[in-house]
Amino acid sequence: MNHFQYKNGELFCEDVAVADIAKEVGTPFYLYSRATLNRHFQAFDSGFEGLDHITCFAVKSCSNVAILSLFARLGGGADIVSGGELFRALHAGIGPKKIIYSGVGKTEEELRYGLEAGILLFNVESEQELQRLNRVASEMGVTAPISFRVNPDVDAKTHAYISTGLAKNKFGIPIQEAVELYVQADAMEHVEVRGVSCHIGSQLTLISPFIEALRKIKAFVARLGDRGISIQYIDLGGGVGIIYDDEEPPHPKEYADAIREELSDLKATLIFEPGRVIVGNAGIMVTEVQYTKSNRGGEKEKHFVVVDAGMNDLTRPSLYGAFHAIQPVVEADGDPLVVDVVGPICETGDFLAKDRELPAVQQGDLLAVMSAGAYGFTMASNYNSRPRAAEVMVDGEQFEIIRERESMEALIRGEKIPGFLEK
Ligand code: LLP
Repeated sequence: MNHFQYKNGELFCEDVAVADIAKEVGTPFYLYSRATLNRHFQAFDSGFEGLDHITCFAVKSCSNVAILSLFARLGGGADIVSGGELFRALHAGIGPKKIIYSGVGKTEEELRYGLEAGILLFNVESEQELQRLNRVASEMGVTAPISFRVNPDVDAKTHAYISTGLAKNKFGIPIQEAVELYVQADAMEHVEVRGVSCHIGSQLTLISPFIEALRKIKAFVARLGDRGISIQYIDLGGGVGIIYDDEEPPHPKEYADAIREELSDLKATLIFEPGRVIVGNAGIMVTEVQYTKSNRGGEKEKHFVVVDAGMNDLTRPSLYGAFHAIQPVVEADGDPLVVDVVGPICETGDFLAKDRELPAVQQGDLLAVMSAGAYGFTMASNYNSRPRAAEVMVDGEQFEIIRERESMEALIRGEKIPGFLEK
């Protein structure tokens, strides 16, 4: 359930007409509903009520500080994967003791930043990272709290690019080899072993891979116990899928219940790293039709709707062939037409939808690209020197810009014509 609904043929976000926002902010823009963000966060988090747990929102999915600050107020933590995300999370008021740091390529500088901030856990992904972290911590005279991210070799049955828990993926440490690494880490002076973590992929629509992973983790924790290593934190990553089209993902409550059932006597604080399931359907992208055109040359007539948002604004369709529903902001009665919705970028791969039946639209109409809250704005780029879109949040009858549309000046910030060209 989300708060993007039609009232008298017009799309509203909570109690604000989307068209009114467009008038004030211009297009394209990302639009988030506070009520939906709240609801989705709580739907996830409350599933684990009564269990010792931390919901660490995956910052990469939607990293605007307004959104992070909202989750901080709901008691959320952060799952970060870069120094930049750590900066955002701290800036938004997320306590360091609720921040966990994942990712295969943490630099020395990033490790230092995490240690300075005093984060809860580093999810270490290789032996070399362990060595580096131990050295940096020793130079700083501190101890680094760690988990290892293990790779349980589970098929998440999702898109190949976002499947991470298989042995062939670059993530984590093969679970069979990890015990020795724990033993090694346990003997190190400047790291302290606290947990085990895994993340098997994103946009999962089945519960079974999560349960399979959890079973493997439980068996693994028992093996560690046999070696005298006790585990305080078990991190199950993110990955719960959402409805973009006709998917049937588990409700967060079902996911939580299945995990509860599997835990039985396990005594550890659970950590979750959900991203998409919280923000995906809490945000849309709004774009304006610039032109419509038809190419009659080929075998069959092809219709295009050219909009002012492109693959630089929302990459998912081009990159993953992902489906995003597209709806007119003001419902029209015209005969539907099968169209490609394309952006202004000079690439054939620049599309938001292909062969999609849409109600007839014309120049100046607004379209809402649905389910764009996760991996939408955060994956945007400046390709074709396009300033990144504005971001707006609605709360009941009010709305506020939470990120200004990028300016032309911002596009060339930091660039300079070298002195030797002037000579
Ligand atoms: N934890 C880790 C370690 C991750 O790598 C990810 C996502 C998450 C948590 C959050 O997963 P979620 O709950 O959002 O599924 N750009 C792709 C998705 C990439 C996901 C990367 N990792 C997309 O647009 O579908």
